[in-house]
Amino acid sequence: MQTSTIVFRSDENKYLKKYLRTFNRYIILWRLLFFYYMQIITTSDGSHSVYSPQYDEAYHSSFGAMQEAEYIFINKGLLYTAKTSLQVLEIGFGTGLNAFLTSVYGNNISIHYTGIERFPLSVEEANLLNYASFFPEQKAWFTGIHQVEWGSFQRINENFQLLKVHADVLNIDFTKEQYDVVYFDAFSPEKQPEMWTESVFTRIFEACKPGAVFTTYCCKGYVRRLLQGVGFTVERLPGPIGKRQILRAIK
Ligand SMILES: C[S@@+](CC[C@H](N)C(=O)[O-])C[C@H]1O[C@@H](n2cnc3c(N)ncnc32)[C@H](O)[C@@H]1O
Repeated sequence: MQTSTIVFRSDENKYLKKYLRTFNRYIILWRLLFFYYMQIITTSDGSHSVYSPQYDEAYHSSFGAMQEAEYIFINKGLLYTAKTSLQVLEIGFGTGLNAFLTSVYGNNISIHYTGIERFPLSVEEANLLNYASFFPEQKAWFTGIHQVEWGSFQRINENFQLLKVHADVLNIDFTKEQYDVVYFDAFSPEKQPEMWTESVFTRIFEACKPGAVFTTYCCKGYVRRLLQGVGFTVERLPGPIGKRQILRAIK
């Protein structure tokens, strides 16, 4: 009786181990598929982007991820403000390109940067991206941006602190009047209409300090009207290469 009980337990362990081995194989297989389908692509200025099969859309413009991000979020957003201390919010942290560029171009500004991301890339995937090769002296910042923990502010360099939030923007409660700059970098309204709504923009508007600047690559009329409707003053600006116009909104 005792023997049979011991045999039973050992069998149970055997099955558990077998189950775990199979489970691990599935995880490895899933990662391989993820790598295969989440393709890294090279855009026209030589910088990488990522193609999302889930949304059937790339993270950046095919005319150049780097030039697009520098123009829309850095030149028209970050550098439009004249403050020496800033709270930046990014909707759709993704590859960390905007955070990296903000740390580089905003290096004389004290910045607290919050990036919200529902589907984070792994550190291994981020390591495949070539953004640091554009700023070799700041390579360690890009590595740091991906290696630091999620969920609390982490120092990337003397002036730049990063909070990566693994969450769905649609379910987040923002603190009121916290941010000076907002980078709105969701997938396009065609692919992700739930992100371009009055409810999302109202919550972002409330999270902005008076005078805060909001930029996005999208210049659709209904997006402009939604932003105006929730209280922003909105202007159309000439776009980067490959894009006629973009939107900048001020609270
Ligand atoms: C157009 S990509 C831009 C990514 C990033 N700004 C970059 O430069 O790599 C949109 C990003 O939003 C993320 N995303 C999609 N839906 C989201 C949601 N509901 N909440 C938070 N992030 C989301 C995607 O996973 C993706 O990383």
